[in-house]
Amino acid sequence: MSGLLITGALIYGEGEPVDVFIDEGEIRAIGTDLGVVDAEIVEADGQVLLPGFVDLHTHLREPGREDTETIESGSAAAALGGYTAVFAMANTNPVADSVVVTDHVWRRGQEVGLVDVHPVGAVTVGLAGKQLAEMGTMAAGVGGVRMFSDDGHCVYDPLIMRRALEYSNSLGVLIAQHAEEPRLTEGAVAHEGPTAARLGLAGWPRAAEESIVARDALLARDAGARVHICHASTEGTVELVRWAKSQGISITAEVTPHHLLLDDSRLETYDAVNRVNPPLREISDVEALRRALAEGVIDCVATDHAPHAEQDKCCEFAAARPGMLGLETALSIIVETLVRPGLLDWRGVARVMSERPAQIVGLDDQGRPIEVGEPANLTLVDPEVTWTVRAKELASISGNTPYAEMTLPAKVTATMLRGRITARDGVAARPQSVGGA
Ligand code: DOR
Ligand code: ZN
Repeated sequence: MSGLLITGALIYGEGEPVDVFIDEGEIRAIGTDLGVVDAEIVEADGQVLLPGFVDLHTHLREPGREDTETIESGSAAAALGGYTAVFAMANTNPVADSVVVTDHVWRRGQEVGLVDVHPVGAVTVGLAGKQLAEMGTMAAGVGGVRMFSDDGHCVYDPLIMRRALEYSNSLGVLIAQHAEEPRLTEGAVAHEGPTAARLGLAGWPRAAEESIVARDALLARDAGARVHICHASTEGTVELVRWAKSQGISITAEVTPHHLLLDDSRLETYDAVNRVNPPLREISDVEALRRALAEGVIDCVATDHAPHAEQDKCCEFAAARPGMLGLETALSIIVETLVRPGLLDWRGVARVMSERPAQIVGLDDQGRPIEVGEPANLTLVDPEVTWTVRAKELASISGNTPYAEMTLPAKVTATMLRGRITARDGVAARPQSVGGA
């Protein structure tokens, strides 16, 4: 048997169902009656075929916290969520501030073979914000680091940020900023507003994010560099990004699924599964973020998939670690918040979950058009089904999903990485190589 035949797929959810023949990692033919006799069949039966999703913001916890996620378990979660490439953040232990760590992450991801795991390099040594990491060495390694971020921490020193932007420009890499002015968020655990005040939780003002977004837009302008804003969470950030783009500044921004669905009313129960950085905001922010993503002011969706152990989450709200799972539920949340309300069609989903993120980091084999001769990195989505999220059934080692027991629309039914099926009907393919490094 040779090749793979997807039968009856609606490409981008448009037109009439067609068959797609894949061989040697590429799309070889698209049409009806292709005359293929000897291929493995994936019956799409009117499901939607999209380019494989690209996540610019994933925490995989390897090295250091393999009790909460590994490159292997996170790759399975990614494949099940429809992803063919993810960017693994640098806040591991040890920090990915050296080529030894970034190359390990890349190699381990390739061994597992379920998704391309691109390492994100730290901007500063140890994420301490004091001294630039050796970005050039990491960029030149086999991991080919193309994105740098101190995510989890803000590169708060404006002079360090300025130098990082200048340096990134000459290396042709991207700096992604976790925008959080640390003096404004000391002790903060929740969005600063009426809910946090009533619940007695220390507030995180919108200005902590927005002041850094504004500053970094100006620094990028002056350096002639690109800057990417991680997990935009406020209406003010949307307006600042809109303004910066109107000025010709090379700024891009992502939004997480949770900031598109959830607001701070979730905190009423004090359940720490809802603690996340930046915090869940107010409905007005959620609505502004949805509109901005639909308009293209916010460029893309990124999960900020942040697995945490039970003991780090099932505790007092203020003591819990921030972060929530995202890879396996992202598509459903985008359908719920944007497709169902009519803000995005399937072309739009392809844009925000695949094409724009691939462009932002310059991946030339991802986010490609579904055409003959293109790499077969594809995701098949059943838009008709609904499913109920069960934390225990997720592929992640951790269970900190805020969507537990929620019924969500649409499900990824198959994911293909270079023509190989990496997930099918809710089951991830076996890793190509098992075990840790
Ligand atoms: O909620 C978050 N969790 N925000 C971050 O910036 C870091 C992340 C983590 O690593 O857990
Ligand atoms: Zn972050």
